Amino acid sequence: SKGDYRHFMLKEIHEQPEVLVDTLADKLTPEGTLLTAVLGPEAAELLPRVKQVQIVACGTSYHAGLVARYWLESLAGLPCSVEVASEFRYRHVAVQPGTLFVTLSQSGETADTLAALRFAKSAGYLATLAICNVPGSSLVRESQLRLMTHAGPEIGVASTKAFTTQLAVLAWLALVLGREQGRLDEVELAEQIAALQALPEQLRQVLELEPAIAELANGFAEKRHTLFLGRGAHYPVAMEGALKLKEISYIHAEAYAAGELKHGPLALVDDAMPVVSVAPSDALLEKLKSNLQEVRARGGRLINFVCERAGLEDEEGMRNFPLPKVPELTAPILYSVPLQLLSYHVALVKGTDVDKPRNLAKSVTVE
Ligand code: M6R
Repeated sequence: SKGDYRHFMLKEIHEQPEVLVDTLADKLTPEGTLLTAVLGPEAAELLPRVKQVQIVACGTSYHAGLVARYWLESLAGLPCSVEVASEFRYRHVAVQPGTLFVTLSQSGETADTLAALRFAKSAGYLATLAICNVPGSSLVRESQLRLMTHAGPEIGVASTKAFTTQLAVLAWLALVLGREQGRLDEVELAEQIAALQALPEQLRQVLELEPAIAELANGFAEKRHTLFLGRGAHYPVAMEGALKLKEISYIHAEAYAAGELKHGPLALVDDAMPVVSVAPSDALLEKLKSNLQEVRARGGRLINFVCERAGLEDEEGMRNFPLPKVPELTAPILYSVPLQLLSYHVALVKGTDVDKPRNLAKSVTVE
């Protein structure tokens, strides 16, 4: 049931701190030990042989894969490709020895993802791993290794808690592989694990931005087009924010890596088009700030989800929502949440059917 919430989507957004705790509970002890046995009995033999990772998924799950690529490459030093299942399944892929094939899916029944897995099983991959929210789903049954996101049932068509729990599992996997590859020493590993463990509490803090985001949504609902900007692992976070907005508010939204602005999309910017940016405090913040300046100089209206220590002040045409300073590993998970709230509240103002947006199904079991 929806309990006291007006929509399942809102309930599911607010459940995120607790389902993150549930998701990590079988993967990490409170003392910070990684519990790799959860991957299944074959994992101990397979993990040391992983040389590359291929991730395949659809929609929001695909965006989780794109974020994970940054983690797998930087923390584990493993080359990683990410592709939408509907493309992957129909092309001739060149498989490198030692490639772990990973599917991501909330439902475990998405037709294209399942077809990609079935193809992969005879294509020479090292092993198949499903990261999934539904135990006993086709994807879980047919994969060699599995990791469950314990997000609980997700009813809203727009995926929220399934996405952030997938990200938590992927961050965990990057740490497991990083240790396996000898890329993370004990001190760094302990720091990264502590970052994951701190996340649920930080999410609770971010959920408190809701009233301010709801107020902003009033002025947003009449807009026709929006740009979402991010850099690094926050580029796919921006992509996910844009997908959420399209899906439930029917406002056209496009995401760009902020460094691409000058290569085309800047031409679109005027005072009628809001530009949403995801701006955590990381190595790319200064670069992102200069991208935002480019938008301001063209009269663009900025809405920034920004690290509270980034030193950005509200001014005419620029609104900042401060988020706590968090480690790089967990920032993409944290910054996804205000974007979910933004699309929810814009949809609410527009009066769309939030939990069942037009033309969409929760589980896409046909091609
Ligand atoms: O169940 P899956 O994660 O495999 O579903 C994949 C997509 O259909 C799904 O994420 C879709 O994009 C959502 N409606 C996004 O909110």
